[in-house]
Amino acid sequence: MLRVAVLLSGRGSNLQALIDACGAPDFPAEIIHVISNNPDAVGLLRAQDAGIGTSVLNHREYETREAFDTEVTRVLEDANAELVCLAGFMRILTEGFVSHWTDRLLNIHPSLLPSFKGLDAQQQALDAGVKLAGCSVHFVRPGVDEGPIIAQAAVPVLDDDDAKALSARILALEHRLYPRVVRLIAEGRVTVVDERVTISDSQAPTGALSNPSRD
Ligand code: GRF
Repeated sequence: MLRVAVLLSGRGSNLQALIDACGAPDFPAEIIHVISNNPDAVGLLRAQDAGIGTSVLNHREYETREAFDTEVTRVLEDANAELVCLAGFMRILTEGFVSHWTDRLLNIHPSLLPSFKGLDAQQQALDAGVKLAGCSVHFVRPGVDEGPIIAQAAVPVLDDDDAKALSARILALEHRLYPRVVRLIAEGRVTVVDERVTISDSQAPTGALSNPSRD
């Protein structure tokens, strides 16, 4: 069983998707700890309901980013975390933290990276007028929403979408994609070479997702 920790700041619906996936008897990973920088994060309650240990590390109580990140690593290592999943964690991590956890630190972002990094990715997609949007799971590197992409999933953007409607469509995909990636990593099928990811024994979909559709 791969020991997975989750870092979050808010709602925690991706944490919930991971908790639910881990509940399946054949799932090769377990959530062993959840850390929030926000004491009021709903995600903490989700973890507690699932019997998962939680830590609140309030970034306001640390003098520097380095001091905060060092404490996060200490808690993660105390819990023997092997993989760390960012799931709506709204703090920029220091280069030291990111390099300490290289290829053991994942993020999920609600866009087809490298488009629309940063905040309000779904509104950025609407503003750009793209016809397909989606989400990406990637290994974390020092730049915001940067790093080798492991998996992506796409949805159409509809003419009457607002950010709320598009976000909901993407979020439903996020909840399927993140557990799938954790499973692939736990199965030892994910390799990074020259900052590109390959996945052994995986199948690309046949056919294309097109918007408008071709017929
Ligand atoms: C998700 O859209 C995720 O892609 C982004 O932050 C949001 C977190 O949502 N990084 P939740 O807290 O998992 O519900």
